Amino acid sequence: MRDRFGRSLTALRISVTDDCNLNCFYCHREGCLTSERAMTADDMGRIVKLAAEFGVRKVKLTGGEPLMRGDIVDIVSSIARAPISEISMTTNGTLLADVADELAEAGLARVNISLDTLDPKTYERITGKDLLDDAFAGIDAAVSAGLMPVKINMVVLAGINEGEIGQMVAYASQRGAILQLIELLQISGDGQNLSCYHRDLGDIERELQKQAVAVETRRHMNARKKYILRGGEVELVRPMHNSEFCMHCTRLRLTSDGYLKPCLMRNDNLVNVLSYSRAGALGKARAAFQKAIARREPYFKPAPLKRVNRRR
Ligand code: 5AD
Repeated sequence: MRDRFGRSLTALRISVTDDCNLNCFYCHREGCLTSERAMTADDMGRIVKLAAEFGVRKVKLTGGEPLMRGDIVDIVSSIARAPISEISMTTNGTLLADVADELAEAGLARVNISLDTLDPKTYERITGKDLLDDAFAGIDAAVSAGLMPVKINMVVLAGINEGEIGQMVAYASQRGAILQLIELLQISGDGQNLSCYHRDLGDIERELQKQAVAVETRRHMNARKKYILRGGEVELVRPMHNSEFCMHCTRLRLTSDGYLKPCLMRNDNLVNVLSYSRAGALGKARAAFQKAIARREPYFKPAPLKRVNRRR
């Protein structure tokens, strides 16, 4: 189903919990509000089944930290029963080592693991926790469980980890993982001003362009660019500086308390779906999807063309 801007809907990102065992200072918390109720594994299975009717084929589990849910394997199993093609997860990896195999068996296809640095002190500065070794163990477990391609999410932060990109490319490629360089979005969950950490990725992009043996544009991934280097693969995520980013968005989000959320950047247009799907009111639950799809709208729009005043 297409929205007003001709964009189709193919992906649903489910925040399975707002809890997290890390406390990254820049975290946008997926735009979460504090929640008053939590979805069960069955709730999520039912909502994904409905989402599939509207074209959703890919489901990504996010948080908070999804592995804070003790029933995460049941959540994956429940969603895997819906007619979709892929379940993936964004995780900080610190709790992954013990459950990677079980998750893969339940139907999880791949993971994105947040890792901004290889240095323990920098890791603690960013996340507030001394858990870098656990994150490393999680990444290795993901690779050996076949949760491929493993993508490593690195948010590039001025004055903190911007000098580590070369080492991160090497670390990722040694494990057969793809490095995703992410430009900081200045929407921290606790209202902190993040402008001093913002690092424009423009020059890094130009450097990658020079070094790349091939460049691919991911058509269904917000027009993201993927650079194939001799030593590995790097993707860039730059929502603000790529006017096509939002025009290629195919996502809807589901908050941990069961609201459909048309855009990461907004909290003013959420649509309750959980109450209806729980009550078995399928007509109303479908109407909620229709309403949320109708509210999908690009947040970062291409700059309008200037009008030229012509005198006759
Ligand atoms: N800017 C960009 N990306 C962010 N993430 C969280 N907060 C921000 C932000 N302010 C992304 C990171 C992390 C994932 C969970 O969310 O990529 O890996």
